[in-house]
Amino acid sequence: MRLLIAGGAGYVGSALIPRLLERGYSVDVVDLFWFGNKLPEETGLLNKDLFDVTVEDLKDYDQVLFLAGLSNDPMAEFSPNKNFVYNAAAPAYLAYTAKKAGVRRYVYASSCSVYGYTVNELYDETRPVASAYPYGISKLQGEQAVMNLADEQFSVIALRKGTISGYSPRMRLDLIVNTMFRTALQDRLIRINNPSIWRPILAMEDAISAYIRVIEAHESISGIFNVASGNYTVGEVGDLVKAEMEQQLGNKINLEIRHQQDFRNYKVSIDKAKNVLSFHPQHDVRGIVGQLIAQMSRFSDLNNPAYYNIQVFRELEKGISSHSLGKPAGVGR
Ligand SMILES: NC(=O)c1ccc[n+]([C@@H]2O[C@H](COP(=O)([O-])OP(=O)(O)OC[C@H]3O[C@@H](n4cnc5c(N)ncnc54)[C@H](O)[C@@H]3O)[C@@H](O)[C@H]2O)c1
Repeated sequence: MRLLIAGGAGYVGSALIPRLLERGYSVDVVDLFWFGNKLPEETGLLNKDLFDVTVEDLKDYDQVLFLAGLSNDPMAEFSPNKNFVYNAAAPAYLAYTAKKAGVRRYVYASSCSVYGYTVNELYDETRPVASAYPYGISKLQGEQAVMNLADEQFSVIALRKGTISGYSPRMRLDLIVNTMFRTALQDRLIRINNPSIWRPILAMEDAISAYIRVIEAHESISGIFNVASGNYTVGEVGDLVKAEMEQQLGNKINLEIRHQQDFRNYKVSIDKAKNVLSFHPQHDVRGIVGQLIAQMSRFSDLNNPAYYNIQVFRELEKGISSHSLGKPAGVGR
């Protein structure tokens, strides 16, 4: 099976692709390499904007995965106009082009942030979505556009992922558990901005298995699926990170509890993914921290700007022309 992954050089793609290669898939990546390139040598590289991908380019692929765009709220808020182009128009363009090229399946990286601010209820995929902020709105627009194209010849699957955490060769330290891990390591402190807010957390290892289940799902399957390892309050995430790090590293870690307002609060049901995709998460917050500790020598330069999307993005924005967000960074390995 031949796969093309747009945005495959990012945090998710860089952890997923070695596993896809291991399973015998042929994988090519189209990416602007904003955060460099940590992909295995066997990955085919197309160093360009996915808006420049043509029907001809996609003719030989069985499946196309979209993992590109602006992947968090700070980037989206820093540049709302680029956010809507890259998160809403880009996945729509790529799905349209893939369908025209005869690709059989399109997989879209959606996000639980489409649920916005909910109160004390477990949300499944049939519940209303109501994000009022650029990232959540644009992820929903992208999702709606690609889902519209699904038919018997063209399977479309959207994964509404919880916040991913854990190790990837292209590391990010701006995601909830990873951030707590970093401050615990550097400052012996975990800051909790709002302990009562709910977040579905998705361990990288479970994200990888969700993508594998999707790629290998029966061709008749299309649809939207919530995927998470578990639902936690941010306060509980802090307690679990603290407990695991204290136990494994032997240092006392302090908590700083704040009560800041947050515009995202949701917990999700993953029953549909369990029943239809056979997705069964195996990891939890303490397991994520254990994995980060085991891999920490691979990202020991904790202040590397490449680990913080907004820092790289601000620099890219300085050199922007039209919708193209600047030159690829460090394509060499
Ligand atoms: N990381 C999470 O917690 C999370 C949670 C839910 C959903 N998602 C979604 O999953 C996807 C992957 O997330 P990530 O954390 O790996 O992101 P990332 O920011 O690490 O990587 C995104 C990659 O896409 C590339 N890219 C962006 N726009 C492009 C374009 N127009 N053409 C070619 N390449 C382009 C970038 O160069 C980068 O390599 C994103 O769509 C994100 O919105 C992520």
